[in-house]
Amino acid sequence: MTTSSEKSGVVVAKGLLRFITCGSVDDGKSTLLGRLLYDAGVVPDDQLAALAGDSRRLHADAGDVLDFSLLTDGLDAERQQGITIDVAYRYFHTVRRSFIVADCPGHEQYTRNMATGASNAELAVVLVDARKGLLTQTRRHSFICGLLGIRQVVLAINKMDLVGYDETVYDEIVTQYRELAPELGIEQVHYLPVCALSGDNVGARSSRMPWYRGPSLLELLESIDIAVAGASDFRMPVQWVNRPDHSFRGYAGTICGGRVARGDEIVVQPGFQRARVERVVSPEGDVDAAEIGQAVTLCLDREIDVTRGDVIADALHAAPVADQFTCHLLWMGDVPLMPNRTYWLKVGTRTVNARVMSIKHKVDVNTQAKLATRHLELNEVGYCTLGLDADIAFEPYNVNRTLGGFILVDRENHATVACGMLDFALDRSANVHWQHLDIDKSVRGASKNQRPLCLWFTGLSGAGKSTIANLVERRLHALGFHTYLLDGDNVRHGINKNLGFTPEDRVENIRRIAEVAHLMVDAGLIVLVSAISPYESERRAARELFEPGEFFEVFVDATVEECEARDAKGLYRKARAGLIRNFTGIDAPYERPQAPDIHLVTAGRRAEQMAEQVAERIPAI
Ligand code: ADX
Repeated sequence: MTTSSEKSGVVVAKGLLRFITCGSVDDGKSTLLGRLLYDAGVVPDDQLAALAGDSRRLHADAGDVLDFSLLTDGLDAERQQGITIDVAYRYFHTVRRSFIVADCPGHEQYTRNMATGASNAELAVVLVDARKGLLTQTRRHSFICGLLGIRQVVLAINKMDLVGYDETVYDEIVTQYRELAPELGIEQVHYLPVCALSGDNVGARSSRMPWYRGPSLLELLESIDIAVAGASDFRMPVQWVNRPDHSFRGYAGTICGGRVARGDEIVVQPGFQRARVERVVSPEGDVDAAEIGQAVTLCLDREIDVTRGDVIADALHAAPVADQFTCHLLWMGDVPLMPNRTYWLKVGTRTVNARVMSIKHKVDVNTQAKLATRHLELNEVGYCTLGLDADIAFEPYNVNRTLGGFILVDRENHATVACGMLDFALDRSANVHWQHLDIDKSVRGASKNQRPLCLWFTGLSGAGKSTIANLVERRLHALGFHTYLLDGDNVRHGINKNLGFTPEDRVENIRRIAEVAHLMVDAGLIVLVSAISPYESERRAARELFEPGEFFEVFVDATVEECEARDAKGLYRKARAGLIRNFTGIDAPYERPQAPDIHLVTAGRRAEQMAEQVAERIPAI
């Protein structure tokens, strides 16, 4: 493992290595990591003294033997106290290399934490107990690593002392893992027999396993080459536009693919504008060129429109652009994934609205079996199709982790609910274009002598939405306006006949109603919608389909008690009797609108009065 320069006495420093350790306490993960830090000489004296004290106290009969697991067990201790810790990162360096190690819990309920640690690691140290061989968790850990783009694994076969340092036990495990690794997309595996407790093959090579001729774990980590897969074409997501005064305009970001030099022709994506690079400014000043991993500011030779989120790319080898994809998703949200709900998708420096259009299957993280499903719950992995509101420049995740990796964010509470890996663009994404039509909404509206609008009535079943909407429509009709009333119950007899009342179906019900209402407004009509629409998120997505001033949310605010007392359709009685499940207000939620355009409090008021209140607020009426 020594290089020629090391032989001549010169130590060659390698770049930063980010790695993750996978395994559980039982496999000896904490001990291995603690031992590694100790052998690397990075444990400060005061911490060593504390470690010696703690070891003596906890293991009185073990003499002066250090318990290295105590160095890194903080995570588990805190977890046992119910404190949630995602991932513990440790930074250390030897004369040869700097390291960042992500230490994450290995149990299945922590899959999301492991994915977080793996998402920016280049290598994984996967621990196996020599006595037990490959376990379900070894498969799971390796699968998550492969999914998150880790191509190199160090398989540390631990506790060799407990199998008598037997080479055949080691060989058997190596043979099994050789079969597994390619299935999971792991390209390179380094096998290593260790005994973490005594430090054999951790910092230094062991004399107890002379049959193993490779490097120790530390030597391996110090010398390993990390190839940056496929990221050879220049790509830089724009983080911000730097314009301190009239004389300077630069685009700042971190290069996530290839290199860029002064004079290169670039294209600003997802658009098509081209320019040449006039200056490459690094933190140290102007440079001729810069490459992957460097943060730079680029100045261009002409004024073009560039904003945060755009990707500056090599003009001859531009990134693909699309708005529909297949992808793997690892669900991290406490609330399950809602297909067709709008989430924010963040990729590179760009944020766009996105929906999961379908879940093709989910993958059992332990066996990699593909299973049919309609749900994706916390820690589950699914293969999905994704639809975005806008085009993005991207790369498949296995080509470029920055432009192919994304997260989904809940728009209501801003929680990160998924991490995802783009696979490829759907053909229809490139082959279906928006057709321009000469007769547009304003022309259609003008010929009807009206301003097209959508009045969206939301509230509990039996609150009076349909009754009030009906009165408003009658009034509009009498005044000569062209209208349509899309009523929740009626729509469910036709276009939404295949939908029930599960949360997923309600999301899709509202999405379709909103799309139909949007088409009708485009046709020039004044559209009234009457649907429970119980979720804030879908009402917001509906509003976003329309132009400002075109959509009015009307909250018909009646209490469950009022609705139940009236119970015109007898549904509350049935729901109370357990004959209808998922009934809004009884055993399914209704999220009250926070800022409706029109708020109708129904108690003690007649429907006509409330219809009047609506009419007063609508400019067209
Ligand atoms: S929504 O929640 O998806 O917006 P929508 O307005 O289309 O509901 O349909 C609600 C109507 O379906 C109610 O007015 C009621 O007549 C009927 N219904 C049947 N089952 C349920 C249920 N479980 N929850 C609410 N409404 C139900």
